[in-house]
Amino acid sequence: MRRGGEARGPLTARGDQRPTRLSPRSRGRDILRGVPHVIFSGIQPTGRKHLGNYIGAITQYVAGQDRGDPAIYCIVDLHATTLTYDPAELRDRVHDTTAILLAAGLDPERCVLFRQGDVAEHAELCWLLTSVTALGELNRMHQFRDKSAAQRELVSAGLLLYPVLQAADVLAYRAHEVPVGEDQREHLELMRNIAERFNARFGEGLLVVPEHRIPTVGARVRDLQEPERKMSTTGGTEQGTVLLLDEPDTIRRKFKRAVTDSDDPPVLRRGDDKAGVTNLIEILAAVWGAPPQSVEAEMADARGYGDLKAAVGEAVVDELAPLQRRYREIRADEQALEAVLAAGAEKARAIAAPTLADVREAMGVGPPRPRSG
Ligand code: TRP
Repeated sequence: MRRGGEARGPLTARGDQRPTRLSPRSRGRDILRGVPHVIFSGIQPTGRKHLGNYIGAITQYVAGQDRGDPAIYCIVDLHATTLTYDPAELRDRVHDTTAILLAAGLDPERCVLFRQGDVAEHAELCWLLTSVTALGELNRMHQFRDKSAAQRELVSAGLLLYPVLQAADVLAYRAHEVPVGEDQREHLELMRNIAERFNARFGEGLLVVPEHRIPTVGARVRDLQEPERKMSTTGGTEQGTVLLLDEPDTIRRKFKRAVTDSDDPPVLRRGDDKAGVTNLIEILAAVWGAPPQSVEAEMADARGYGDLKAAVGEAVVDELAPLQRRYREIRADEQALEAVLAAGAEKARAIAAPTLADVREAMGVGPPRPRSG
């Protein structure tokens, strides 16, 4: 991730950027199946992405561009309508998120980056998949239970169907790999059940049963104030959450005030009873692109936790500075952002439409497909 700083968004493309096509021959192949290896992930449109999102998801997306054939990234505006929301704000947040992803190094020439609501196949497949989804399964989902309990106004049917739409997102592209956090494990299991049930009912091999891929480090980025909890803009503390667009001084201050422990003398190592220090070491390791052991070795003659906090704060500021600069540039041009999304949607549709044609045919929905040949 040390090299994250060199990543370059398309809207700031310089002459030295190599032109790439969507599916060059050299791109990732699925070794076992001998077919192109499709990566798919969805990201919520919120403007307040934090360091946990960055280390856990966004840098994985960027790396996925070299392995996926293609790598497909979807900004899920339809999912965002399942809780109380403001329509004008939703559009803004989609632009924010698109700009963050581009600034972090997603390159629309090397991946498919699009907005869910632009590709009608998602909603259609969601409906068709409800036929092989058990109400009981949806009712048991922890996220549904938590979110419906927290929802003050209407608990929408959309909230219940959220995981079916998520299944449709992935299955429409016959994706093999879904890089998402640990919190999505249940949704991934459900998606696999839906695909298996669909294939059993309507024809083996019609849909690909995808694999979950949980990032190793990012899954664990903790709140700096309450390191027992995940870093999160909804469930965490304000001072313990480092936003990607925080001012450098804010970032330094948040790290400076990070909770560690009262070991005396201080022990600059990871440990089960040292959640705060472990978190700082792992963040620094992620930013350096080095194993945590080498951070510990590097810190061996630090005087105390203050040195570690200062080192992480500085490293994170350096890592995010180029991203923030590019973000401001890219976010300012909404027309260009819409053009990127429109081009992405066209590529997405070209992949999803044939799946939908197969699914409709297998399910007996709509007119029979004309026989070719
Ligand atoms: N539910 C996911 C989240 O909250 C976002 C998402 C929607 C997603 N569709 C997806 C993730 C498809 C992976 C694949 O993070």
